[in-house]
Formats: sequence, C-alpha cells, structure tokens
Amino acid sequence: MPNGFAGGYSKLPDRLGGIGRALWAVHYEASRRRAQGDDIIMLSIGEPDMPTPPAIVDAAERSLRAGRTHYSPAEGEPEVLQALADSYTKRTGRLIEPSQLMFTPGTHTALYLVCQTLLDSGDDLLVPEPFYAAYTPVVSVTGANVITVPLRSDEGFRLRADDIAAKITPKTKALLLNNPHNPTGAVLSLDAVEEITRICHENDIWVISDEVYEHLVYRGTFSSPFDIDQYAEGVAVVSSLSKSHAMAGWRSGWALAPRDLMHRVRQIGEAVTFGAQPFLQDAAVFALQEAANTGAEMCAIFARRAEKACSILNDSKHIVAHEPDSGVFVMADISRTGLSGSEFAMGLLDSESVATMPGESFGESAAGHLRISLTVPDEELVEACLRLRDFASRQALET
Ligand SMILES: Cc1ncc(COP(=O)(O)O)c(C=O)c1O
Repeated sequence: MPNGFAGGYSKLPDRLGGIGRALWAVHYEASRRRAQGDDIIMLSIGEPDMPTPPAIVDAAERSLRAGRTHYSPAEGEPEVLQALADSYTKRTGRLIEPSQLMFTPGTHTALYLVCQTLLDSGDDLLVPEPFYAAYTPVVSVTGANVITVPLRSDEGFRLRADDIAAKITPKTKALLLNNPHNPTGAVLSLDAVEEITRICHENDIWVISDEVYEHLVYRGTFSSPFDIDQYAEGVAVVSSLSKSHAMAGWRSGWALAPRDLMHRVRQIGEAVTFGAQPFLQDAAVFALQEAANTGAEMCAIFARRAEKACSILNDSKHIVAHEPDSGVFVMADISRTGLSGSEFAMGLLDSESVATMPGESFGESAAGHLRISLTVPDEELVEACLRLRDFASRQALET
C-alpha cells in the first residue's frame, strides 16, 4: 500500500464485483465506438427517446425558483404521496393511503428497499427469466438467491402459474414479477396474474410487482396483483415516471405496499436516501395530475415502431420476431442463422454498425435471441432492421 495505509473494505463490493458488466459488452463497445465518432445506430438501450414533456420541465423550474430546494421528509412530500395514493385508489377501487407509499429515486431504489425489507441472506427469490439485467446486483446485495423460472419462447414468454408452483420450496420468500415484461414485451392476462398471485398467497410468498411499463401496453390489458383485493396484503408494487413520462433521468419512482411492510420499507429508506429533492416531487405531482396521458401518447409511437420492425424482420426466413404487447423492445429469434445471440450482436455491430443486446444477457431462455430497442426515430429503426435482416441472410449462407 502507498503511504503504508492498510485499511480494508467490506466484502460486499467483491460479492457484487463485475455482476452485470459482461452482459453489457456489446452496448459498452458500441458506446465507446460512438464516442470516437463512429456512426452507430443504438438499439441497445431501453429509454424512451422522446423529451420529457416541456410542461413538466416548467413545473420543476417553477418549483426550483420558488425555493423548493431544502430537505424534505424521508418518505416523500405529502403532496406527491397523496397524488400517488389518489391514482392507485382510482386504479384499485380501494382506498389507498399515503402511508402505504414512499417516493424513491426510481423503481430501482424502490426495488432495493423492498428487497432489503423482505429478504434475508439465504432466502430464495423467484425471478422469471429472461429478466431485466439490473435485477441481479439489487438482489445480490441482500445475499438472497435468485431462483430462475424459465419463460417459454413458444408461449410468447408469458409466465405460467404451473412453472411458479414447480419452483416453490420452504426457502422461497418472494416472487419478483415484472409485468409488462422487459425484455420480452409480454403482458399477462388477468387470469394468469390471479392464478400466479393465488399460488404465492397460499404459500405465504410475497409478490414484488415491477410495474414500470404499466402505461406502455399496446396489446392486451395491464393487470396488477396489487389490484386483487383478497391478495393485496401480500403484494408490494415498485414503479416510476421513467417510462410513462420519459423521465428516466429524473429518478422519480415509488414503492407501494401494505402499511406494515411500508413502515419497514420507510425505515430502511430513511437510512439510505434521507429524502428526495422537493422540486422533483413537485414535478412528479404535476406529471401525475396534469400530464397523465403522456404514456398513452408514447405508447402509440412504440406500437407503430414495433409493427414496422417486426414486419421487416419477419420477412426473413432466418429471423422470428415476437410481436411485443408492450414496452420499448422487440425480441427476435436469430438462432436459425446458427449464431448465438452474443455472436450475432457483436457481428452486427462490427459489420453493420447496429448495436443490439444479446438475449443471453437476460438469461438462458433468451439464448439465440436479440433484444432490439424501439427507442430511435422510425427511419433509423427501419434502416437498422434492414441491415439486421441482410446480416442474418449473409450469416445463414456462411454457416
Ligand atoms: C423492468 C425494469 N424495472 C426497472 C427499471 C428501472 O427503472 P427506473 O428508471 O424507474 O429505476 C427498468 C429500466 O429499464 C426496467 O426495465
């Protein structure tokens, strides 16, 4: 050690070290080349490309100028908790109290707090797979085990209640349900959500419901386990304005849970965040109350892009693109080219300057797939899909 200092570190960073980095190899490489000036079409990220609605930006500015720049209650300002409670009261048809909510820096932090509240080291958490790559480090912090529940591509990647039941053991503490689903865009029917939640409830297993894509459903209808009265006592919801209002950088999300669970979530939340920025919370109130339709407007754009992308890709006999029900991605099966998802994605970046995510980054069940983001303007997306289709044909000829 320089200067003779030999202070040590906790074991946690080593335990988390590197989790996730390899999964993003194609994206990082594409970003590096782009920073050097290469003209790359980035279909590897999942953030709506639209700007945050100007009226929401104005609301934040007004709040900043009004001096809303000081400490605020750790659980969130009363106004934002009330606005959220009102919107969930409307959605569920039950009276939801502000005391059931905490405002957090995004869904990610809400999930971290709920996982810390529910999971001890050695507990098992069921996670349908493929799954959002950032789940692994959040869960790993708790020391709980991720038990994957494979989703089947021939079922449109829709989670089956039987597959959950088959994985339950005495160690199972919770299910992390992501509906609408990233990366596949699948949306579960109300019957499926009811059945899955019933099985969890009967086995005293919590359902943690990640609903960040709630407002970006273009086929089918969104259903939440929290909205089913008889099971709601065993459900925690995490969500945010990141996707619904193109506000990912605002880090404005929340956790919603039964009162006892929320009391504990808030205890941990206070230790971690010590409150969120009042001006962000004012903007969130405005987004929830005055700009509630933003998600529906963006949804129409993503539905159109998904249709365009799928029609180009499915014109190839080497690609099977799954039409998504929701969200900002298309999953395309490229296994007929003879390449893995990783080989295909890296080859596509090298030869066509198009960055996508290999399915393997999200779990074994998505091997041989690509996740293609719909978060670029239509013309760019069409150009990228044409290049992808040509690349697939060339690979198939070579193998
Ligand atoms: C399924 C899922 N959950 C959570 C998040 C994180 O959302 P937030 O920006 O609200 O933290 C994402 C972001 O892509 C996601 O896809």
